Amino acid sequence: MERIKVFVVEDEPVKKANIIDILSNVEYIVLEGNAGSAEEALNMIEQVNPHVMLIGASIPGDGYKLAEQVFTSFPWISMIMIESELREDTMRKAIFAGAKDVLIFPFTPAILVDSIYRSYQMEKKKQVIQRDKTPALRKKSRQGQVIPVFSTKGGVGKTFISTNLAVSLAQHTGEKVVLIDLDLDFGNAALALNLIPRYTINDVVNEIRNLDQELMESYLIPHRSGIKVLAANAKPQMTEFINEEHTGLIIKVLQSAYDYVVVDMPARFYSAVDPAFQEADLLMLVTTQDLATIRNIKACLTSLNSLKYPRHKIKLLLNKAEKRSDIKPRDVETTLNHSIFATIPAEYKLVSSSLNKGIPVVLLYHRAAVSRSFQGLVRRIAGDAREAPNKKKSRFKLPGKAAYYDQVEVPE
Ligand SMILES: Nc1ncnc2c1ncn2[C@@H]1O[C@H](COP(=O)(O)OP(=O)(O)O)[C@@H](O)[C@H]1O
Ligand SMILES: [Mg+2]
Repeated sequence: MERIKVFVVEDEPVKKANIIDILSNVEYIVLEGNAGSAEEALNMIEQVNPHVMLIGASIPGDGYKLAEQVFTSFPWISMIMIESELREDTMRKAIFAGAKDVLIFPFTPAILVDSIYRSYQMEKKKQVIQRDKTPALRKKSRQGQVIPVFSTKGGVGKTFISTNLAVSLAQHTGEKVVLIDLDLDFGNAALALNLIPRYTINDVVNEIRNLDQELMESYLIPHRSGIKVLAANAKPQMTEFINEEHTGLIIKVLQSAYDYVVVDMPARFYSAVDPAFQEADLLMLVTTQDLATIRNIKACLTSLNSLKYPRHKIKLLLNKAEKRSDIKPRDVETTLNHSIFATIPAEYKLVSSSLNKGIPVVLLYHRAAVSRSFQGLVRRIAGDAREAPNKKKSRFKLPGKAAYYDQVEVPE
C-alpha cells in the first residue's frame, strides 16, 4: 500500500509533539513535513505534496483561512482541522473551508489515525470516480492525429472543411474527435456548427498554468454529432495574449485524449499557430480551381518547402470543384507539382442551406456528392493512419517574425 503523506500545521508545542508522536508509530503514515503558521505552510505545501493536512484551528494566520486557500488551490489534499473544543460555529467554518473532519484535542491515537485513513480513502475514491466518469481521461495507447486545415487564401473553405471533416471522422470511425478553432482573428467554426460557446480558447489560456485533461474537457463545447469543439474567442483583440506555448500545450493535452484533433486554421502563418504545423500528421492544404487561388497556393507551397516542411505531410484538397471549369484538376496538379489528395465538389445550394440551418452538410444531406466526398476523405485519412502507426515528428519550425513575413509574401 502507498504510504499516506501527512503535513502537520500546528504551533502549540505540546499538541504538535503529541501528534508527531502518534504518527511516527503508524507504519503506513509518513510525516512529510510540519509548519507552525499558515504562511509557513503555504510556502512549504508544494514541496511537501501531502495527501492529508492536519491544521490547528488557532495557528498564526488562522487555520480556517489556510484551509480555504488549500481547498481552492490544492483540492486533492484532504484536510483535518484540530480544535480545542466542540462548537457549532467552528464546525460550520470547517465544513465551509472544505475540511473532511474536525478533531478535538486531546484525542486518542486511534481517533487520529482513523480520521487520517478515512479522509485519504475518501479522496482516493473520488479520484477513481472522476476518472471513470470522464471518458476523455482514459489513457490512450497512441497519440491522436493532428490535422490542421490550412490555406493562405481566405474563403476557400477551411472552416467548411474542418467542421465537416471533424463530424465525418466521428461518424465513420467511431473514434473521439475534437475540433480546435485556431483562426484566432475570425474564428467562426462554432457558428458554423450552430454552437454558442460558453467558453473559448481564451478561458483555457487564462487557466494555462493549471491545464490538464480534466480542466481542458470542461472548456470544450459538445456538438450533437459527438465531436467536441474548442471555440475561438469572440473578442479577437484578446488573441495577442495567445502564444505558441499556449497553443502547443493545448494541442498536446487534446492529443492525449482524442483520436483526431482537427484544426481550423487562419489564412496566414504566425507564431501562435506554429505548433499546429509542427504537430501535424497531415496538413490539409485547401485550394480552389481559380487562377488567383492556385497562384497563392503555389507561393504557399514554395514557402513551406523553403521552411523544410515535410512534403509527404502536405495533402492537397481541391474544394469547390466544378466539372465545367476551364482549369481541370490535372492542371492544378501540374501547376502546383503536387497530387490532389481529395476533391470536394461545389454544391452552393446545399452548402448554403446547411449553413443557414447550422447543421453540417454531411449530416443534413449525407447522401449528396459533397458529403460522399468527405466519406472518401475520411477513408483515406483513417487508412493512412493504419499504414503509418509510428509516425515521426517533423522538426519543422517557423522562422522568426521578420523572416516569415518575407518568405510568405503571397499574391492575392
Ligand atoms: N464545396 C463547397 N461548395 C459550396 N460552397 C462552399 C464549399 N466550400 C465552402 N463553401 C462556402 O464558401 C464560403 C467560404 O468558406 P469558409 O469555410 O468560410 O472559408 P475559409 O474558412 O477558408 O475562409 C462559405 O460561404 C462556404 O459555405
Ligand atoms: Mg474560416
